[in-house]
Formats: sequence, structure tokens, C-alpha cells
Amino acid sequence: MCGIFGYIGTDGRAINSVLYSIGLLEHRGYDSMGVAFNMGREVELYKISQEDKENFNIEDLKRLVPKRKRICNNGIGHTRWATFGGKTTKNAHPHHDFNKLFYFVHNGNVENLDDIKKELGKGSFYSETDSEVIVNLIAKYYREMNSLEKAVSKVLKKIEGANAFVVMDANKPEQLIAANKGGTIILGKENGNTIVASDLAAFEPFTIKNRHILKDNEIVEITKQGWKIYEDEKVKKAAKEINEPNSDLGEYKFFMEKEIFEQKYTMANAIRGRLITETGIPKLGGIENIARSLRKVKTFHFIGCGTAYNACLYAKFLFNRFGIAASASIASEFCYRHSVFAPDDAFIFISQSGETADTIEVINEIKIKGNICLGIVNVPGSRIWRETDAGISIRAGKEKGVASTKAFISQLASIVMLAVFLARQRNMTIDTGQRIFRELELIPDKIQEILNQANLIRKVVNKNSRFTNYYFLGRYFNYITAEEGSLKLKEISYVHAEAYPLGEMKHGPLALIDKDFCSVVIIPDDSVFKKSLVNIHEIKARNGKVLAITNKKMDVNLADDIIFVPRTIDYLSPLLTTIPLQLFSYYMALKLKRNPDKPRNLAKTVTVS
Ligand code: M6R
Repeated sequence: MCGIFGYIGTDGRAINSVLYSIGLLEHRGYDSMGVAFNMGREVELYKISQEDKENFNIEDLKRLVPKRKRICNNGIGHTRWATFGGKTTKNAHPHHDFNKLFYFVHNGNVENLDDIKKELGKGSFYSETDSEVIVNLIAKYYREMNSLEKAVSKVLKKIEGANAFVVMDANKPEQLIAANKGGTIILGKENGNTIVASDLAAFEPFTIKNRHILKDNEIVEITKQGWKIYEDEKVKKAAKEINEPNSDLGEYKFFMEKEIFEQKYTMANAIRGRLITETGIPKLGGIENIARSLRKVKTFHFIGCGTAYNACLYAKFLFNRFGIAASASIASEFCYRHSVFAPDDAFIFISQSGETADTIEVINEIKIKGNICLGIVNVPGSRIWRETDAGISIRAGKEKGVASTKAFISQLASIVMLAVFLARQRNMTIDTGQRIFRELELIPDKIQEILNQANLIRKVVNKNSRFTNYYFLGRYFNYITAEEGSLKLKEISYVHAEAYPLGEMKHGPLALIDKDFCSVVIIPDDSVFKKSLVNIHEIKARNGKVLAITNKKMDVNLADDIIFVPRTIDYLSPLLTTIPLQLFSYYMALKLKRNPDKPRNLAKTVTVS
């Protein structure tokens, strides 16, 4: 969700650096943006929101900052995804206390806001945000303790919920203070400049040598020399290595487009060096240390949100197919249901960003119970990466498009490898392992074959863009593809779409079918093909429009449009059938003049629960 950035330098380039890196954090939230620059004698504040301009971007914010004053060594910036308070400029960060002594950028939600407001007593807030309340609490404690570190430490103990923030003291242009409790704050050092951010993406323009990720309840003083970490007011040191992101748009217009079209390579990267053909056992370095314990696990519980949850569903189906008990749960529901699991069950958390608050909540809960926690994560160094006992890096590279595309395919590839690893520990034969590897190696080229049909898919979209209602339908493994296709379409096109297991149509959903309703049916040649054909007849008999994704010749009178995908093993088919649906939603968004990288109301990384 909200993106945070702070810069203390010696080169006078804080303004440019903050504005540039805030642009790199746009995917975290784009309801509003703001920056504050400590110019020595005063702090300058610039903000913009959708209230000023519906489709504003970083260039609009840059235009607000006067060029003549571009020498500064201390700045903070923020991209906002609204929770407390509407998408207005007043609610945009940085926020300041009543006396304009402290400026504050914040990611998270303060869950005990009412108690804190009571503690602050009367005061007229200019915004509706929790952040403004917190910066005033910091100011209050500062007045009492005469130390910003101590004040922040006290605030950190006081506030409930997952929160991370950076504070600028107007009177101390040589310093910033940051703190973390349940969020992510990363620090970096580059020749005389120190950087603090909520997301590695903001580090892109810098050649960072030293990095540190703030642990929970740590407070850090940031200066041009580097950082000093406090926990309970004691100085501490620690460091954790993480990799560089890479996110150039290159020849593409949108990140979503770029990320769809690079899937041949990201898929190849997910399996590179991991498929050991001699043994039929994948080499998964991240779980080697706990391989023995995994052998004893009876049931695996997969947890995730959105697209990552769809990957969890795939994991469940595939594990079951290989004779291993597995469940899949939506993270935001898990803690509030009475889930039954055994002490020796393992939990596997799937997340592209590794920062999803709902998923982290479940990790926290499961850690209390003491079960094994694994992560299937894209962003190295992210919170889920750090908080799990072991895991698999999906190696998809930076994913900037809000709609998750390449990460999903790489998640599926990682799940297949994990499933084979565990099944080989159990009953799977070496031949089966080897056969799956041979097929996995072919997937990157098969993905490319589908991408080569992009123009055809675009034409199908243009032909069908009049529909305002869609079903995405499939059976067994391709019910998951249907869920993913439906999520993609609504997310970036704002077109109503629902996913159903195809056989379920006759139990209710069929009632909506008429000539104005389009059904996208995923029907590869597998064990459920014949049954699926019957279901398509049922839709056609009611004049419904059918768009089929298949790998088998079909009666052209049955489907109004057909997109062909290459053949593969039935349980690997979602790795291919998902691709045309990503393109379908992408082209639909373009056709309907939506910005696929900035879908309304959504953010890439959802750090509130
Ligand atoms: O970073 P995560 O994979 O944990 O994110 C989970 C969901 O928020 C995410 O997949 C979301 O559903 C996507 N925007 C879907 O395209």
C-alpha cells in the first residue's frame, strides 16, 4: 500500500532523488502523492491527489516544486492508498503536527486511533487521517521527553496494528527518524547518501552497497553517515542481504504488458538449475535444510490472497493429485474461522510482494502455534520471506503492474517443483518426476507460442468488448484458470466477471445466460473435456456467447471464438491457459480506455488488513 521514501544526502540532490524514487513507488498507491523538503530554515511541502487531477502522475507533482530551490539534502516522500480519509490533497502525506515541527510519512493503519485521539484531547485536525493524529502524538511525547527517538519509541509501543513511518524534524535537517512495527522499512547507503524506503523499488537509481531491513519495534536515526538502530533505546546492529530489482518499461507501454510478454523468460528463470533429471527431484535450495521435517508432514495448508490465493488453489489440487493432503485458504478469512490442523502440519504462504498484511497476520498466528511455515515469495528480503522458516524464491523479477501476471505463472512453476519434491519423498516414481521435468522445460516456448497470438486475442477482445457481463468457466485444474481470468478482467477493466466450475452452471448461474452474456470457457483436452463440451452445449442452447480456450479442434459452431494453446500434461495446463486470459483482460482494459497499471481503488502491495 502506501509507499515511503526518505533521503539524506551530501550532494544537494534530495529534491530530485525523492521525486524520482516516489515515482518508482507509484504502484504502492496512487490516490495521492506528496513530498517535504527540509531546506534548513523551513520545510517545503507539496502534495497532489486525484481531487486535483483524476489521472495525475509524478510529473504533475514535479511541476509543483519550484525549480529555483532545487538544493536540499533532506527530503521525504509518499504515495498514498487511502484508508482513513478520502482521496483528497488534505489527506495526502507528508503530514505535520499542529506546530509544523515534525513531518511524517506513514504506511499502515492505527487500529486504536480512538484511544489515541482521546489521549491527545482537543485539537482541530486538518485531515481525516490516522497519520496526522500520530504525528501529533509524537510531538506531544517530544515536548514531554525532549528526545525524538524516545518520543517515537513511546508512540511505537502505544499504537496497535501494522505500521511503519519516517519522521522529519524541521529543526534537524541533518537527520530523519524511522520506525517499524509490523511493516517494512529498508535502509540503504550510497557514497554520502542514506536512503530509507518501504520498498526496494525505490532503490533503483542508487548503487547501494550496505542495506538493512528494520526489524519489528526498531527505531532508526538516519544521517548522511548511515544509520543507528535503537530498540528499547539501545543501539543495535544487523544486516541482511537482498537483491536488486529491475523494472524498466523498455519498449512497452505498460508494466502489465511488459510483464505478460516476458513470461517465457521468467518461467525459464523459475526452473533454471532446479530440475535435476537424473533423480527426478528438484533442487530447491531454500527448503533443503528442512527436507527431513517436510517428509513427516501429513497435510500442507496453503494461504494467500487474490492471485496468490488462486495459486494456493492450484497447489491444493496438484498436491491432492500427487496423493498429498493439502488445503487452500484465503488469508483474510483464515484467522477468523475455526481451522482444524495438526501440530505436524505445515503452512505455505504464497505472496508476490511478501508484504501482504492479511497473509502476515496468519503467519503470526501460526508461529504462535509452532507449525512449520514456508514461503513461496517473489521479493527477496520481504517480510514473508523473512518471517517464514524456509521457502522457495519464484524468481519472477520485479512485478510492477498491479495485476499479477508473471508472478502467478512463476508461483505455479514453483508449486509444481515443490509438489514433485514432496511427492518424490513419498510415492512418486522417478519416471513421473522426470516426465514432469521434461514437460516443464517445454513450457517457456509454449508460453511464447501463445504470446505470438497476441494480435488475434486483441481482435477477439475488440469484437467482444460490448459485453458487460462475463463468466469464466472451467473444470478441475482449469477452474483455477477461470478464477484467475475473472479476477484479472474485473481488476483492470472494471467489467463484471465471475468464475464458476463449469459443471456448476446448471445449479444456478445458467439462469443469467442470454445473448448478452459472454462465457469464457477453458476446455483443454483432458479427463473432463467431454463433460465440459456438454456444458458448452447448455450455454449455446440458451443463446449465450462462448469464447473457448482449448488445445483441441472444436466445432466452430459451438464456440463463437476459439483461442488455441499448446498441449501439455493436464495438471500443467493452467501454466498455459492463463496466458490468453491475461492478454484478454489487458486488451480489454486498453479498449475500454483504462490504465491497466493503475486500476482504480487498488494498490500493488496490500499492507493493511
Ligand atoms: O503480493 P501478494 O501476492 O501477496 O498480493 C496478493 C494480492 O493482493 C494480489 O495477488 C492481487 O489480487 C493482484 N492485484 C491480482 O492481480
